[in-house]
Amino acid sequence: MIQYISTRGGIDPVNFDEALLQGFASDGGLFVPQTIPKISCEQLRALSGLCYTDLAFEILSLFIDPDIIPKKDLRQLIDTSFASFEHPDISPVKSCCTDPSLFIMELFHGPTLSFKDIAMGFLINTMDYLLQKKNERLTLVLATTGDTGPAAAHAAAGKKTIDCWPLYPKGMITREQERQMTTLGAANVHPMGVENCTDGGDDLDLVVAKLFADPMLKKRLNLSSVNSINWCRVMVQSIHYFYGYFQTCGTSGDPVVFSVPSGAFGNLFAGYLAREMGLPVTGFICANNANKALHTAFSTGIFRKEDLKQTLSSAIDIVVPYNFWRFLYFTTGCDPEKIVAWMDQFQQTGALHLDKESAAAIQNGFTSVSISDPDTLMTIRKNFRAETPYLLDPHGAVAMAAARTLRETYASDTRIICLATAHPAKFPEITARALGPDLPAQAFHPSLIKASKVCEKLRICDCEHLESTLVRAIENQTKKNKATKDEAAGKEGIHG
Ligand SMILES: Cc1ncc(COP(=O)(O)O)c(C=O)c1O
Repeated sequence: MIQYISTRGGIDPVNFDEALLQGFASDGGLFVPQTIPKISCEQLRALSGLCYTDLAFEILSLFIDPDIIPKKDLRQLIDTSFASFEHPDISPVKSCCTDPSLFIMELFHGPTLSFKDIAMGFLINTMDYLLQKKNERLTLVLATTGDTGPAAAHAAAGKKTIDCWPLYPKGMITREQERQMTTLGAANVHPMGVENCTDGGDDLDLVVAKLFADPMLKKRLNLSSVNSINWCRVMVQSIHYFYGYFQTCGTSGDPVVFSVPSGAFGNLFAGYLAREMGLPVTGFICANNANKALHTAFSTGIFRKEDLKQTLSSAIDIVVPYNFWRFLYFTTGCDPEKIVAWMDQFQQTGALHLDKESAAAIQNGFTSVSISDPDTLMTIRKNFRAETPYLLDPHGAVAMAAARTLRETYASDTRIICLATAHPAKFPEITARALGPDLPAQAFHPSLIKASKVCEKLRICDCEHLESTLVRAIENQTKKNKATKDEAAGKEGIHG
């Protein structure tokens, strides 16, 4: 039976449902499976011909015990979660118009047009399924740099078991992303725009982490998280690496590298997970913008907190990529004591200097680069002005620019798959900066046009008072929910 433990080693093993519903482990660590399931070459061959949802079923079955979610229910959860995607392949791979060795995997065909939809639908549907069984309700609090919030809000909208509180740094995400949260009109979704976030989304992460670190408060408010600290997110994201690999080279064993625009390192960790399971990936390019904590870690062995820089690829403006701790846990050979000591050191000094052996372990198959805003704009322009125009969003452009920068470091027959993590329509101002004010048809999406005509509902709060304001708002909402439930029970009583 597969069970989950904490990267800090301070909890007893729990089943998948507990890991999913709790989000954070109670000792302040991140949930990880006790062992990573392995897939043999023969199994890989069998998986290579499957459609996305069948592949998802096979991979997720390795992580979820049928005693917790019976196979029939798992199948249904997967089918429901991917039904709203616009593309039948979920994550199609296209060849790049400017270089035959480069490919683009489009991860933005879900309902809120970013790769966050890929795991969020399944996570929240599964949460709802488990909560219904337990007759419980959860409060999801999540920090967003622009895409997690919309994906969670959309997936949670209308669910009777969930209240969803997406927090975002006001003015630091696009209006398109903001409207995806504020125009849903769902009574259980409560977006909060937070002003004066000097460290952007990281300021919000800190408050969320603080709430979760208080066990009494966490219990009283029934808190959980769907940020990529939640194991379920990274587990589901591993599927697109398998799918992208199979679409590009089947099981030929040809060299394949993934170039991944990275912020909190959830998506790239999912690629690492796929490789650890047995997918023969040649390498990964960790593509940072000017917020380059990951690039610094991979290139120097120093994991350091630096000041936030606002960039054009705002969703990856992240100072502390918290999934890096999960990666370090596995690259140390699953040593929780080391992780505790390192996390303490990082907390106290803002930096962690890895020893030689640990630095070599993280570099195994990983390269990295930091892409500037001018390079991001130039990449958007170059791809759009190619013979077959292709419009990248700024994050896909960071991945593409990174792939071009490091192209020569790989053998000439290596295929590089760049992850396009968002639809360009979410970033019209940046597209205009790259291409000029007359935006092409590819720069729009009907769902965003529709949202721009709907009345917005949101709370605004200053970062300094976020913790107290949020706790009070959640308490009030909980009272309201209880009153509604009591009223419904009363009515049922009268009619029953
Ligand atoms: C469009 C986009 N690209 C890339 C990322 C980075 O993903 P991760 O935080 O998993 O590294 C994000 C997430 O914040 C995103 O929204």
